[in-house]
Amino acid sequence: MKIGVLIGSITGNTEHLGNQIIKKLQDLDGTLKFDTLMINQEMNKMNTTEQYEYPNYDAYVVGTYTDFLSIPILVRQYFEKMPPTHIKNKLVLTFSTHGFTTGHTGQALQQLLISMGAKPISHIVTKYPDNYVHLPFILPLYLKKVQKNSDPEFDSKCIQFVNTLKSGKFPEITTKYNSKNVSKDVQRQKKQVKDHFIVQDSCVGCGTCVENCPSAIISLKDGKAVFTEQDKCVGCYACFQKCPVNAVVDEKKTLVNKLQYKYDNSYIVEKPKSNFMFKAIIFVTFMMLTVMLLK
Ligand SMILES: Cc1cc2nc3c(=O)[nH]c(=O)nc-3n(C[C@H](O)[C@H](O)[C@H](O)COP(=O)(O)O)c2cc1C
Ligand code: SF4
Ligand code: SF4
Repeated sequence: MKIGVLIGSITGNTEHLGNQIIKKLQDLDGTLKFDTLMINQEMNKMNTTEQYEYPNYDAYVVGTYTDFLSIPILVRQYFEKMPPTHIKNKLVLTFSTHGFTTGHTGQALQQLLISMGAKPISHIVTKYPDNYVHLPFILPLYLKKVQKNSDPEFDSKCIQFVNTLKSGKFPEITTKYNSKNVSKDVQRQKKQVKDHFIVQDSCVGCGTCVENCPSAIISLKDGKAVFTEQDKCVGCYACFQKCPVNAVVDEKKTLVNKLQYKYDNSYIVEKPKSNFMFKAIIFVTFMMLTVMLLK
């Protein structure tokens, strides 16, 4: 049995959780085969290849990060374009990651899949470090929080998925798809994308942003990234987060200090470019912590 693992992930958190789930499912049933697809790259292929073919699987594991309290537009778009026959009546285990608060990400993801006739069985949700955490020295504490906040029913949800898959008796779904919520989400997320991205001279022309832009609006010209048709930007921040030299910034340069981090066994923090405000925040927080410790 082949399972499609479809993941919307920008900085690696959701990919990390997805890999934990695959490992667990593999331990539970060694005969299961997995194929992992990253939704950003798939959307990019879709927009740059003449004929994109959606792969078809026996069952799915679908995960996303949280974008403005819900599922990101690009994840929604990926499923809305999927041929419904690929997912109709298929068992799905969903999962999501979030920073400050998950909002209704799990519910929105499940409702979207239900609207396509899928059979989502349960949802694994875990708090992860947020892309907006500015202070590197807080990150080890955050990581502890991740471990503490990992879904307590992680194991039982994976077992339930494997057992249901084997039994072939899928759940009856009663939840209705609420299109009003969907349009509210999309409008909120679109409102968010108010700043356009610009590329600084430090761009080394590596093409990482080009490969990861799901809207295919970045290309390389004379060895530098060029952003076109920015009104098609879905605000996923992949270009900004994945640039190895921090060359992508927004017009107002407010994002320049956001952290970029990766998850692969260890927690790697790539130091953001520093400015006065950033240093000031670190200094004040450091002083406050010192005072609290001395008390
Ligand atoms: C544009 C954007 C919006 C976000 N909105 C939320 C949010 O509303 N609530 C939340 O808890 N986390 C939010 N986050 C944080 C991410 O959901 C969280 O860090 C997630 O684990 C990132 O997953 P990834 O590493 O797989 O991309 C947002 C991140 C981005 C980039
Ligand atoms: S330009 Fe950047 S933020 Fe906009 S869709 Fe492309 S990768 Fe995402
Ligand atoms: S990822 Fe950064 S360095 Fe690489 S092409 Fe894009 S902007 Fe330039």
